[in-house]
Amino acid sequence: MKVQGTHYRSIWWDKPAGVVRIIDQRWLPHDFRVVTLKTLDEFAAAIRDMWVRGAPLIGATAAFGIAEQMSRDSSEASFDAAYDVLHATRPTAINLRWALDRCREALMPLAPGDRAERAWSLAQEIADEDVEINAAIGRHGLELIKDIAARKPAGEPVRLLTHCNAGWLATVDWGTATSPMYHAHDAGIPLQVWVDETRPRNQGALTSWELGEHGIPHRYIVDNAGGHLMQHGLVDLVITGTDRTTAQGDVCNKIGTYLKALAARDNGVPFYVALPSPTIDWTVRDGVAEIPIEERDSMEVTHVMGVDGQGNISDVRVTPDGTEGGNPAFDVTPNRLVTGLITERGVSEASADGLARLFPERAGSH
Ligand code: MRU
Repeated sequence: MKVQGTHYRSIWWDKPAGVVRIIDQRWLPHDFRVVTLKTLDEFAAAIRDMWVRGAPLIGATAAFGIAEQMSRDSSEASFDAAYDVLHATRPTAINLRWALDRCREALMPLAPGDRAERAWSLAQEIADEDVEINAAIGRHGLELIKDIAARKPAGEPVRLLTHCNAGWLATVDWGTATSPMYHAHDAGIPLQVWVDETRPRNQGALTSWELGEHGIPHRYIVDNAGGHLMQHGLVDLVITGTDRTTAQGDVCNKIGTYLKALAARDNGVPFYVALPSPTIDWTVRDGVAEIPIEERDSMEVTHVMGVDGQGNISDVRVTPDGTEGGNPAFDVTPNRLVTGLITERGVSEASADGLARLFPERAGSH
């Protein structure tokens, strides 16, 4: 998407320079910084410390990290070590394991001398496919938004609510939950987006920045406002992203998503999840029981993080000294609360049958 008129992806291979570049999201929305990743350790740190984040982007970054490592040492032992280092960075988004497994399947049968070149082209393929997938999600989601717009008086905005950042910064481009919004806006449908701040990391600020760059009207709200807004008829549709969706359609996403789904159900507001197929974990069914939930540093909760006047990231404590924080980073919304899953192949019911109908080649393969 465009930043001040220039098109960017969130990660790209600068082939002539022989490096991978990313937008360092720790500084957004205050400062737009592009940094270079040159070693496996830097790739791992970028994922672990959230210079990049969002399930699809984590997967693409891992694939480029493997390519970097294969250029240095293309032995199987080197691949296995890189796989383990990257896999250990974050536990919840399944796209990480998906990308690493895809690299293993493609590279290990090759002669060591052929692995590096294939690893780079594969990482590029994974990135390009992500862009295509998200564009397709946008086209399918656009139809949902069009249906709602058609039932409203002409010129009245469709009011959406989203949680976290499932935008282009969380993918390679377009975003998942935001892609239908970008498509609808570009098609001339007026929108008004409620953006949950998404404490403690405030990914909503990234979403606000994205929507602002694209000219989409939005308001940044505290995480607890959604239920109130729905009760007062101010939300027509909720669309969120997901970090891992199970074979039966249970949706794991940023902490707080479940509460939005409960409020949506209580108020008859459709609750959709934008789901690229690499985010489906076909090996698990019961998301609440089976998905590992990342527990992050409690300081993210006991302190508020911002950028000070000198451009440094700084933390201010908001709790008494000694208060311990709890910081589960994701939760699971059971499929019964999900109106539908917007995938690159169309909109599916959030159920084993619904997903199997859209992805028959994957369903039951585990
Ligand atoms: O902790 P984060 O910022 O990596 O969490 C991101 C999310 O929860 C997104 O909603 C999810 O990855 C979907 S991104 C298209």
